[in-house]
Amino acid sequence: MFPQADQSSDTYEDCKATADWLLAQSAVRPSVGIVCGSGLGGLAAALKDQVAFDYKDVPNFPQSTGERRPRPRRPEPGRRLALGAVHGHAGRLVFGTLRGRSCVCMQGRFHLYEGYSVQKVTLPMRIFKLLGVDTVILTNAAGALNQDFKVGDIMILKDHINLPGLSGNHPLVGLNDERFGVRFPCMSDAYERELQQLALDVGQELGFGDFLKEGVYSVLGGPSFETVAESRMLAKLGADAVGMSTVHEVTVARHCGMRVFALSLITNRAVMDYDSPEKANHEEVLVVAKQRAEQVERLICTMVARMERRHNNNDDDDHDDHHDD
Ligand code: HPA
Repeated sequence: MFPQADQSSDTYEDCKATADWLLAQSAVRPSVGIVCGSGLGGLAAALKDQVAFDYKDVPNFPQSTGERRPRPRRPEPGRRLALGAVHGHAGRLVFGTLRGRSCVCMQGRFHLYEGYSVQKVTLPMRIFKLLGVDTVILTNAAGALNQDFKVGDIMILKDHINLPGLSGNHPLVGLNDERFGVRFPCMSDAYERELQQLALDVGQELGFGDFLKEGVYSVLGGPSFETVAESRMLAKLGADAVGMSTVHEVTVARHCGMRVFALSLITNRAVMDYDSPEKANHEEVLVVAKQRAEQVERLICTMVARMERRHNNNDDDDHDDHHDD
């Protein structure tokens, strides 16, 4: 069921060919890679001097089914065409500058539930690396398991629980190419502490303190939302939020040595009680994402600006930033 050592995922050379193809078409040399979660793709619009590629045009890239159009076919009388699209997930790779910093942004990501292998889901991280990215920022929509969390909260990931990975569906299973990273990578430091602190500081400054949380994210394969027993189990295991993405990408990004920051937008509360009338659904996820998207974008834009300032140690920029947040 899971890839064997002799089954091909994309090789180093495949990834390099994709990165070289992209670098040949864009003058942008990104140092920050951003992955936009459900309903949070608007962040890409903040990039200046954009060069954008549809995933379908990028060699070796899978297509997000969010962009996949139904094949023209005649519907049976009285039957609606099943779209098979994951609304809220676009399918574009956007290069540009964010607050003067060169970035590449995935507007839409790949998920296990779309039928992609976990290696294909994580391929863009290796391409990021070969493009020159050193810091990856990932966002997602998630259901709250922590009873103190509210819909609309932004959770900074401090750790994760990789249930598919623990049971063998792990992106680094198979032959290890040392040019990407070591055979047995450490994951106890997956989320960069300094970037978590930066997010907390920036969040406070922007007045987001009331809805900014920290916690542990648990990934499941989806696409069904959790049963009551599953949500209770995850909460008992120490997870604060649950979703269907991010962890695979984080694992591969860390394997190849990039710094990682990730946040979850809490779009719903996981149903933990058999008497609850609540039912998780994707429409609710998108409605909440739309309501909070602007704040998520401001948080990330300001973090990116601040990251550069720290890097350049340029105090003048510090003052500028307060005006255009
Ligand atoms: N469960 C899993 N994935 C999710 C959820 C959830 O409740 N909300 C948004 N993505």
